[in-house]
This record gives sequence, C-alpha cells and structure tokens, in this order.
Amino acid sequence: MGFTPLSRLSYLTSILALTLPTLVSSSPPSCRFASQYTPSQILSSPQSFENDLLYWEGKFHQHNVSYNALNGMTFDGTGDPGAVRWILSGEGVSDNGLNDVEKARNVAVGILEKKWESYRTFNETFPGFGGFLPWFAHSEFTPLTPTWDWNNRVPALDNGENIWGIYATIEALQRVGKKRYTDLANKWEGYLNYLKTTAARVFYHGSGQICAVAAINNQSLTVDHPDQSYTCEGLGSGGNPFIDDPYEGQSFMFFLYLFGSLNQTDKTALLEFKRPQLVSVDWAMQGYQNVSVQKGFWFSAHENWGWMQLPYTDIPLMRNLYENMERARTCDSHAKRLPGMFASINNSTDQNGEIIGYISNAGIPAIANQTVQELDVITPYSTMNTMIVNKTVGLLWWYNMAKARRMQSMFYDQPPPLLALLIELVNIDLYGSSESTRIDGTATSAFVSWDSKVTTVNGLLGGVASLVRARMQRQGVYEEFIRVVTEEYGRVFSSPLKGTSQGFCLPDIEVEDVGLVDFTTCQV
Ligand SMILES: *[C@@H]1O[C@H](CO)[C@@H](O)[C@H](O)[C@H]1NC(C)=O
Ligand SMILES: *[C@@H]1O[C@H](CO)[C@@H](O)[C@H](O)[C@H]1NC(C)=O
Ligand SMILES: *[C@@H]1O[C@H](CO)[C@@H](O)[C@H](O)[C@H]1NC(C)=O
Ligand SMILES: *[C@@H]1O[C@H](CO)[C@@H](O)[C@H](O)[C@H]1NC(C)=O
Ligand SMILES: *[C@@H]1O[C@H](CO)[C@@H](O)[C@H](O)[C@H]1NC(C)=O
Ligand SMILES: *[C@@H]1O[C@H](CO)[C@@H](O)[C@H](O)[C@H]1NC(C)=O
Ligand SMILES: *[C@@H]1O[C@H](CO)[C@@H](O)[C@H](O)[C@H]1NC(C)=O
Ligand SMILES: *[C@@H]1O[C@H](CO)[C@@H](O)[C@H](O)[C@H]1NC(C)=O
Ligand SMILES: *[C@@H]1O[C@H](CO)[C@@H](O)[C@H](O)[C@H]1NC(C)=O
Repeated sequence: MGFTPLSRLSYLTSILALTLPTLVSSSPPSCRFASQYTPSQILSSPQSFENDLLYWEGKFHQHNVSYNALNGMTFDGTGDPGAVRWILSGEGVSDNGLNDVEKARNVAVGILEKKWESYRTFNETFPGFGGFLPWFAHSEFTPLTPTWDWNNRVPALDNGENIWGIYATIEALQRVGKKRYTDLANKWEGYLNYLKTTAARVFYHGSGQICAVAAINNQSLTVDHPDQSYTCEGLGSGGNPFIDDPYEGQSFMFFLYLFGSLNQTDKTALLEFKRPQLVSVDWAMQGYQNVSVQKGFWFSAHENWGWMQLPYTDIPLMRNLYENMERARTCDSHAKRLPGMFASINNSTDQNGEIIGYISNAGIPAIANQTVQELDVITPYSTMNTMIVNKTVGLLWWYNMAKARRMQSMFYDQPPPLLALLIELVNIDLYGSSESTRIDGTATSAFVSWDSKVTTVNGLLGGVASLVRARMQRQGVYEEFIRVVTEEYGRVFSSPLKGTSQGFCLPDIEVEDVGLVDFTTCQV
C-alpha cells in the first residue's frame, strides 16, 4: 500500500478539516504551529491549540493518502483493518460541536455507505472469513483482497476493535434521525448481526479460549460448508495461540461474551481465562506518590485502546484506575526527565524515507509484564488516553513532542520542483504531526499512519464510549457489562486506589536540538 503523493493533488477531501471551526476562519493556522505556542498559552487557552492540531491532522484524510474514496476503505498496510477510521466516522456523524456538522455528516455517510458495500462484497467473495476482515489490499481499480500474508487467516484482536467502532457508528447514524442515515444504520446492524453468528465458529476454541489468529481451511468456502473448518493458528507448536490479554484483546472477548450466544459455562470460562494477566502494580518513584495501575504488557499507550470504546469508566473505580495510568505515564517521563512518552511505534526513517524498524516494546518496564524494552523513541500518540482524562495535559505533552525538529509535517524533505511550487501555492502536501522522534533529537520518522495520528484525534474528541454506552443500554447488555467489569476488576483492585491525588505531570524538558533541519515546506 504505497502512497503516491503526486497523484493526490487532485483530491482535497478532508473530513476533519471540513468539520472544523478553523476552516471557516479565513486564514488556516501555520503548518509549524506548535513552535508558535508557549506551554502557558496552551494551559490558559487549550482550545485554539486543539483547533490547530485538528486542522492539520485532518489533512491526512485525503483520497489515496489515508483512504480510498471509491470504496471507503483505509490505506494502512500493516495497521488495523480500519478500526480507527471507524471511530472517527462515528464521531464525524455525531454532533460534537464542530461548525459545519451537516457537511461533515454528508462526507462521512458517503464513505460509510461505500465501506458497507466493500464489506458486503468482500464477504461475498471470501465467505470463509465469516464477515471478519484480515489485513487487505485494494486500490481504486481493484476490490479488497487479503494481503499475501493474510490468505486463509484472520486476527481476533483487531476485529474486536473494529467491531466496537461499527457498534458506535450505528448509534451515531441512528441519532441523526434521517432516513439515509437510519437505512445505513440498519445495514450495518445486519452486518454486526451476521458477525454475532460467526464469531464463535471462527474464533472460539472452547474452554474460554479465543484464537489470536484463526486459520481458515478455505477462505472461499462459506462458514458452514461441509469442507470448511477453523483452528487456532500455532496450536500445539509451543507458543500461545490464544488472546489471553486483559488489554486490547478484551474488546473481542466482550463482543463474544455479550453477543456470541455462548452458554453460561463458556461465558464464565472466557472471563476466567483472562484473569491471570489482570494484575495490580504500584508505580513508585522517589518524590511522587505511589500510584496503583493495571500492569501493562509493555504499558504502551495503545494497550488501553478499549477504554476509548467501551464504557469502563462509568464505574468509579475504573475511572480512577484509568486516570491513574495516565498519572503514571506522565509522571514516569517527568521523573526520568524525558521530553515525551512511549507507545509501540515505527522507528525513525532513514535518508531514503524508509522506516528502519518497528519498536513494539516501548512503555514503562517497571509496571509492565515485558521488562525488556527499547526506550529511545517517543511518539505524539502516546497521549491518546491522556487526552481523555485531562485534555490540557495531553495537549501539552503532544505539543512538547510536535515542536521538536521535523515533527511537523511533511511527506517529502526535498519535494520535486513542481510539487514544491504547488505546496507553496495551495498548502496541500502537509499532513500534521510526524509519527515519532528519537529522544536525542537525531532522527524522526517522516511517515504518517492511522495508528499514530488518528488515535490521538479520537482521544481528543473524547472517544466513542458514550455512543457505545447508549446502544448497550438500548440493547439490554449494559448492566451485564458493568456487572462483569466490576466483578473482574474488583477481584484485583479495591477502592481507594493509591495515588489518586497525585497530580498529572507536565513536560519540562525538550527534545534535544542537535541541528536536525525542519522540513523545507513546514518551517516557522
Ligand atoms: C491513486 O493511487 C494509485 C496507485 O498508486 C494510482 O494508480 C492512481 O492514479 C491514484 N489516483 C489518483 C486519483 O490520484
Ligand atoms: C508503522 O508503519 C506502518 C507502515 O509501514 C503503518 O501501517 C503502521 O500503522 C505504523 N505503525 C504505527 C504504530 O504507527
Ligand atoms: C456473508 O456471506 C454469507 C455467505 O454467503 C451470507 O450468508 C451472509 O448473509 C453474508 N453476510 C452479510 C452481512 O452480507
Ligand atoms: C477452495 O474452494 C474453492 C471453491 O470451492 C475451490 O475452487 C478451491 O479449489 C479451494 N481451494 C483449495 C486450496 O482447496
Ligand atoms: C456449553 O457449550 C459447550 C460448547 O461450546 C458445550 O461443550 C458444553 O457442554 C455446554 N455446557 C452446558 C452446561 O450446556
Ligand atoms: C511507596 O511504596 C514503597 C513500597 O513499595 C514504600 O517504600 C514507599 O515509602 C512508598 N512511597 C510513598 C510516597 O508512599
Ligand atoms: C531503531 O533505530 C535505532 C537507531 O538507528 C537503532 O539503534 C535501533 O536498533 C532501532 N530499533 C529497531 C527496533 O528498529
Ligand atoms: C508475565 O505474564 C506471564 C503470564 O501470565 C507470567 O507468567 C509472568 O510472570 C509475567 N511476568 C511479569 C514480569 O509480570
Ligand atoms: C488538568 O490538569 C491541569 C494541569 O495540571 C489542571 O490545571 C486542571 O485542573 C486539570 N483539569 C481537570 C479537568 O482535571
């Protein structure tokens, strides 16, 4: 899924930018806006910084750049199958106070209609997936197909995140209360209803175990074809073929638990299977309060993705726990005198713009299950949850990373002459924040992705838990969700949690300036 930067010049759609108040004002914010703010300005009026951030991150949302306007699907080679795209669309069609709501809704609903059509066609062509999505390839002229390495296999975790995005989207569509939207909501509801019937068949191994990746005998055969079968990939080969994590993997489990038509024995087993990994640990650092948190895998920010979707924080203990994790995240970096925070992220790009590796193991080792970590690269999207618990604090950390050299906002370092001219004239080759910078300031990743950008935007817009809550209540599963979460987390955590009066910490040190030069098209 390569980007072809030149060709996107003819397309200027940008849902986010379209919906923003900044667009109706006559002059757009400077591309290098971060450097023009001071921390105290952001503290006293976070709204204008937020508007600038959203304006530029919205530029990412263009045909052939981040998505395909013809089929409504995202481009993100190795990212999640559209999960973030969903969340954003869910937000786009709800009234979140942005100015041109009608226009945004129109764009969003158009994309969602095409997306539904793409899902339907994919399911028709490859019925063996049971309606779930593998990583896929597509272009303007070719329909969705599994990427070469995802033939006959499908992951549970990412589909779990995608499902709750769809769930929120249905609610958002229904709320508009117009026929076009309600019709589409019904189509998506039909789609989810289908997934309810296939989820256990494709992914459930019995005894509470969910396959991390389901191996499909033949993706071209229907789910109930006599020659069709499913197994957990890697079963019996020594590794762990199941998603046993109480982090991201919980999203799929809750779908199966609430909607998968399992009997009570199996439902209880699902919960039991997750229990060993749900662990309380205290973040402790001289000069700060001890703060109780849920032990992470790496404690990468993305592990709490599900908290943006499911209404965990309706439970007071969970609200405190969620905030505590951001107390620990912000104060750990503060205590270690770091200019930013950690999350799994692509390593820097080299001279040719090629990513030199992927750093999964980035978080806080002292409160993580995986203690061997690489902690040399920070990323703005590490603020995705901070944005929800305290937006100002999140913005200040984002700011501190974005104002580092080369962290805003380009695709080319040296664009070809014609493109350079166009960029100058119409300001269109710019996509907001870069995805990561080395702490020592020697390199950045000049790459843009849904994972590293839109997670932050979603946090900034408050996540979709309010949509999911309303729909859960209407469907009569909310009480059960709350009961299960209260019980499971209550086994491990009890009120009062340690550290709830520790303040969030703010950055007070900058990425070193070792002479890296900002992108030519995006300078102060
Ligand atoms: C979109 O990208 C594809 C593949 O790189 C290219 O063939 C096509 O011309 C592009 N379309 C537009 C409208 O830019
Ligand atoms: C890393 O880069 C790949 C493309 O190579 C992209 O699909 C993925 O979303 C990026 N990951 C993150 C966390 O940004
Ligand atoms: C998916 O395909 C199967 C098999 O052809 C079909 O029975 C089912 O209705 C389809 N589901 C949706 C939501 O289109
Ligand atoms: C999978 O099923 C399709 C449709 O019946 C068939 O054409 C194809 O040969 C099968 N593939 C394998 C590897 O058996
Ligand atoms: C529950 O369903 C499983 C199959 O998933 C079955 O093996 C088990 O016997 C059922 N238990 C009860 C109590 O019905
Ligand atoms: C934090 O907990 C440790 C024990 O794990 C204890 O020694 C220390 O005094 C505590 N710190 C504070 C500030 O309560
Ligand atoms: C990331 O890049 C740094 C600097 O080139 C290198 O030392 C490190 O090994 C890389 N890590 C990964 C996982 O690519
Ligand atoms: C990590 O999790 C595994 C599986 O639950 C456990 O056996 C191991 O002790 C944990 N390690 C740490 C450092 O928490
Ligand atoms: C967020 O944090 C800032 C800075 O610590 C603080 O002034 C503000 O009161 C906090 N806001 C909320 C809603 O907690």
